[in-house]
Amino acid sequence: MVVGSQAKSVETIVIGSGPGGYVAAIRAAELGQKVTIIERDAIGGVCLNIGCIPSKALINAGHAYYSQNHQMDSIMGVQSKGATLDWEATQKWKNEKVVNTLTGGVAMLLKKHKIDIVRGEARFNDNQVVNVISEDESHLLEFEKCIIATGSRPIEIPGFAFKGRVVNSTGALSLPEVPKHLVVIGGGVIGSELAGAYANLGSKVTILEGLPHILNGFDKEMYSFVVDDFKEKGVEIITNAKAKAAVQDDSSVKVTYEVDGKEVEIEADYCLVSVGRKPNTDELGLNTTDVKLTDRGQIIVNDRQQTSVPHIYAIGDIVEGPMLAHKASYEAKVAAANVAGEDMRNCAISIPAVAYCDPELATMGETIDTAKEKNLDFMVSKFPFAANGRAITMNATKGFIRILSDKATRVVIGAQIAGPGASDLISEFALAIENGLTTEDISMTVHPHPTLGEAIMDTSELADGVPIHI
Ligand code: NAI
Repeated sequence: MVVGSQAKSVETIVIGSGPGGYVAAIRAAELGQKVTIIERDAIGGVCLNIGCIPSKALINAGHAYYSQNHQMDSIMGVQSKGATLDWEATQKWKNEKVVNTLTGGVAMLLKKHKIDIVRGEARFNDNQVVNVISEDESHLLEFEKCIIATGSRPIEIPGFAFKGRVVNSTGALSLPEVPKHLVVIGGGVIGSELAGAYANLGSKVTILEGLPHILNGFDKEMYSFVVDDFKEKGVEIITNAKAKAAVQDDSSVKVTYEVDGKEVEIEADYCLVSVGRKPNTDELGLNTTDVKLTDRGQIIVNDRQQTSVPHIYAIGDIVEGPMLAHKASYEAKVAAANVAGEDMRNCAISIPAVAYCDPELATMGETIDTAKEKNLDFMVSKFPFAANGRAITMNATKGFIRILSDKATRVVIGAQIAGPGASDLISEFALAIENGLTTEDISMTVHPHPTLGEAIMDTSELADGVPIHI
């Protein structure tokens, strides 16, 4: 290995090129910084390469296959002839047409902004210098300012080392075949999304969840729709189950779990472990700096995304809050502005969260539980998709929209959507909550007809006490 002893001086370094890092780099460059990105793996990070994007590609492939295979179209009078699945072609499409298009686009944007990309793993030497280590060389960069955006990785649990037929979310996105039987340990967002995708692609799926129900971030009214859909598709959900060990051979994996004090064994061809993620802060050499961490290994930052070392910033999965790409990108813009000498604060009121299940679930701001916990004086209005014209034409009437608003002022304080298009519709609430809009502001905004979005207007009219469609 060639070791460079002379440190090269650079203005701003960004460690990591995921939706936190690449957004921070581009924004800092737009604001006049000379930026160097350090990336040990592929440009685009987990989200673009092995996370949000490829998983949505498989989810959509699953929908296409399922609707053909189950002759959903015949409800509308369209007779499909049944479907076959060319898994190799699905994987090729996901990798080449989806992932590569997006990562190629990001690489082009970085180039356009004259951002230098240094390949290798960054380790701090002190508050001012990082060592960038790659296979054949290692060199030092002395930086003026730094944004750490190194993301997170799947948690491994004892007895379930990621190897062969025991996979994490990365492995589950690139299985060599569609499993005949997939066991999923952990029915959180990742587990439920991938369980749904593989069930649609024809796998028998068993979810082992340690808690009393799956999709813990959503309330019963919401996750029940997904549970019903799973039942319809033959997905078995075993709750209060403690996964103990996996033993594999060339053709299968035997998973042992404990439920009601009894040990049970099931055999499958693959086992996905999706029990949460942990921040990538342990291999950064942060102990050589004055950057302070929480007990859980998250970097402590202020509302300017500044760590305890003022010229080092941190964003995304490595700081407190939900591990979500869009949160990382928002924090990236805050950090980049401060790096460039502006005074910008992280003042996001709430971060929307989505589960891409059938139906989609989305939430932001207060929920009934959090509003009660905080003793807020609030009202709830709820409108079913079954009363929305567009949903009926789509044969997608399961679900509802719920708005929580302040009783006195009618300012929207929270919203939940279970149903078609929830992932897109929640953005209207993001805008409303961020800008302190009232239900009347929404209900008197002209919404195009016929659209799913009209259901947001209808839910607001309900809150105003003057509903038209219910
Ligand atoms: P999670 O925290 O959402 O769910 C993990 C689940 O595993 C929990 O329900 C937990 O009770 C269960 N569990 C833990 N240990 C277990 C054990 N030994 N046996 C059985 N069950 C066990 O974590 P997940 O799904 O891995 O997601 C990680 C992060 O990625 C989350 O922060 C999530 O928000 C984010 N993400 C977001 C997506 C989105 O926005 N659509 C998609 C995928 C991930």
